[in-house]
Amino acid sequence: MKHFAVIGNPIVHSLSPIMHQAAIQDLQLDAIYTRKKLSKELFDQEITDLLLSDLDGFNVTIPFKERILPYLDEVDSFAKKCGAVNTVVRRQNKWVGYNTDGRGFLEGLTEKRPLQDSDRVLIIGAGGASKGIYLALKESYNGEVTVANRTLSKAEEMLEPRSKDRAITLTEAANKLSQFTIIIQTTAVGLNAENSDLPLALDLLSSGTLVSDIIYNPFETPFLQEAKKRGAITQNGLAMFVNQGALAFKLWTEENPDRAVMRQAVLDSFEEE
Ligand code: ATR
Repeated sequence: MKHFAVIGNPIVHSLSPIMHQAAIQDLQLDAIYTRKKLSKELFDQEITDLLLSDLDGFNVTIPFKERILPYLDEVDSFAKKCGAVNTVVRRQNKWVGYNTDGRGFLEGLTEKRPLQDSDRVLIIGAGGASKGIYLALKESYNGEVTVANRTLSKAEEMLEPRSKDRAITLTEAANKLSQFTIIIQTTAVGLNAENSDLPLALDLLSSGTLVSDIIYNPFETPFLQEAKKRGAITQNGLAMFVNQGALAFKLWTEENPDRAVMRQAVLDSFEEE
C-alpha cells in the first residue's frame, strides 16, 4: 500500500486528506493519505525521521514550505526558483521536491477563461504564494504583469530581471485599477472572517474584470464580495487548492485524478461544518 501525507503546523484543519482520499477511492488505488503535525522547534529531527519512514510522497504546507528544501536530495528548477516546495516525491530512494501551487493556480484561472496576451494582469501581494503564481504566469504568458504590494521593495525583488513587468504600491494599483483585466489577490487580508478590510479599494474596478482570490475559507472574502457587487467575474481559492492537489497526485501516482471528485469532496466537508 502506498502512503502519502501532508505535513504542517497547524494541520488539523487541512482539507488535503479529504480531497486526496476522494481521488484515491475514485481511482481504486491501494493507498492512504494522512496528516502529520511536525514541531516547529524539533523540525530538524522530525523531518529527518519522516524521510526515513515508509512514506511514498507528501505535501508540505505552512510553515515548512521553505524549511524543507535543504533536507531534500533534489529540488526541481521551478520549485528552486520559487524558493518553496509543496510536494515531495520518493523516486528511487531519493526525495525530490516540486512546487505545484503556482501552476495549480494558473490551471484554475484558465478554467474560468483563457489568458490572452492582451490581458493586463495585476497580482496583489508579494509573499510566497504571489511568487509562485508570478513565476507560473511567466512560463506561459507573454503579456505584462504588475505586482502591487504594501512593501514595494518586496514586489520589486520578485520581478524577473529584464522583464517589462512593474512593481507598484497598493495605492497606485487602486488608482489604476480600471486598466487591469485580471486581478489576483494573494495576501492574507480576508482570511479573518471578522475583519472586512480590503487589501485595496475597488472603486475603480471595471465590470467584467476577472477577480481571483487565493483564499477559499471564508468561501467568499470581503474583497470578492465587493468585486462581485461591482460586476466582476469572481473566483475563490478552491480551484487553486484542487489543481495544486491534482498536480501533486499526478507526480506521486502518474494517474490523473478527477478534479471534479476532489472539488466535491472539499465542498461536502464545508457543508458538514
Ligand atoms: P504567503 O506565503 O501566504 O504569500 P507571506 O509570504 O507572509 O504569505 O506574504 C504575505 C503577503 O500579504 C505580503 O505581500 C504582505 O505584504 P508585505 O510584503 O507588505 O508584508 C501581504 N499582507 C499581509 N497583511 C497585509 C495587510 N494588512 N495589508 C496589505 N498587505 C498585507
